[in-house]
Amino acid sequence: MAQISPSILAADFARLGEQVDEAARGGAQMLHVDAMDGHFVPNISIGIPVVKSLRRWTDLVLDCHLMISNPDNYLDAFASSGARMLTVHQEACPHLGRTVDRIKELGAAAGVALNPSTPLATLEEILPDVDLVLVMSVHPGFGGQSFLPSSIDKVARLKASRRQRGLNFRIQVDGGVNIDNAGPLCQAGCDILVAGSSVFRTGNIAGAVRGLADRANRPALANA
Ligand code: DX5
Ligand code: ZN
Repeated sequence: MAQISPSILAADFARLGEQVDEAARGGAQMLHVDAMDGHFVPNISIGIPVVKSLRRWTDLVLDCHLMISNPDNYLDAFASSGARMLTVHQEACPHLGRTVDRIKELGAAAGVALNPSTPLATLEEILPDVDLVLVMSVHPGFGGQSFLPSSIDKVARLKASRRQRGLNFRIQVDGGVNIDNAGPLCQAGCDILVAGSSVFRTGNIAGAVRGLADRANRPALANA
């Protein structure tokens, strides 16, 4: 079953706890937390204090996406604040194996993200060691951007490589995910859909999570 990871970047931060509870009522089992540093990406968002507050508020798995330079310097702080999944960018990590090992030592699931223009081949050596691969379907840095359709083929190729090599990492897609592309993405092999605007900007957060999960897990013919 594919899962939905609502991205709180699109939430109303003055009502964050309440909106997180609505997402949980819709069946969300995790929450996507986007940390941006104004350096790796051209935007600044949220970070460790928000992860700490969320950990006290909810039991949902905190899925932290680090769009930051030098993520190694912050892994311990994110993990001790309650992050259970920590995803770093391949483009930000010159010693990716060391970074992935450290995330696992800290007891979190280790994810590696790829920008849209970064080829899958850059992960060839690390794939056996990762718990998750995040395929970015927008250029990272902002919510509310349009989905890049080429991501669907990238997911399919990643799934094929997972099968050929007998690996079992999860495949996550992030950026512009909505009710129209949720089905095709999951049929291609996506296990976790990250969704910001299409969950928190709808006026019915719980209903939006349910709707996405429904599309994600419908058999292919029903999506036609
Ligand atoms: C973009 C972030 C995404 C963002 C997705 O750089 O990594 O997680 O919140 O937002 P939507 O779903 O609105 O594209
Ligand atoms: Zn993200």
